[in-house]
Amino acid sequence: MKYIHLDEVDSTNSYLKQHRSELPDGTMVTAGLQTAGRGRRGHDWLADRGMLPLSLLLKNPPHPDAVTLCAAVAVCEALGKLFPQESFGIKWPNDIILRGHKLCGILCESVCFGSSIDIICGIGVNISQTAEFFEKANIPHGGSIEMLTGNKVPDREALAEDISERLYRFTREGFDAVSDEYKAHCLTIGKRIRIIENGNERETFAEGIAPNGFLICSDENGRFEVNSGEVSVRGLLVYI
Ligand code: BTN
Repeated sequence: MKYIHLDEVDSTNSYLKQHRSELPDGTMVTAGLQTAGRGRRGHDWLADRGMLPLSLLLKNPPHPDAVTLCAAVAVCEALGKLFPQESFGIKWPNDIILRGHKLCGILCESVCFGSSIDIICGIGVNISQTAEFFEKANIPHGGSIEMLTGNKVPDREALAEDISERLYRFTREGFDAVSDEYKAHCLTIGKRIRIIENGNERETFAEGIAPNGFLICSDENGRFEVNSGEVSVRGLLVYI
């Protein structure tokens, strides 16, 4: 696996998008500081040096649709190995939650050319930002490992490599291979939630996860499935 570390970059995802044609499948990029990080649905991803940005280049992966959910399992496993006493949850589709706070966000982007597709999976792990950072940045539900547990991550590079290796392996196997583990970590299942689509909100019950990773919901009109690319999900009164 090729590994590139940059002291500072606008976005590790953008870096891989620009350089993907000259880089091999499985290239991982990390940075000390990301100055123009991007989040899901066009949001900014604001961070200081306390956040670990990492992006993995997957060239023509066999299960492109599974990458985003596989990434959530890879992060939970890698963090669970470092902090076995903690319980890392997944807010569908792929926010990683610790003690009610968002610890990590995942942004998968694809570049299609002819019948091929490259996926760039970007993962931002909050390692050591302080509570003041999240307050000032107006991210009330955000939290870092150090802030929430009082523990330090001994080696960021080793964590990034562990996440990427797991993710690369899972994407060869597909969502089937990790779906039981995904569901075991998923905090959304069994909750009443709000689905936000194009500014419209709809209250529903999250029943489970379909084999393709869609969220199975039900309300008075019956059952339906939602795709993570199209909606945003919130708890009724809280973030999760
Ligand atoms: C989210 O909105 O929850 C997704 C955030 C993804 C942030 C990561 S940090 C590394 C990579 N580079 C980016 O610009 N974004 C992703």
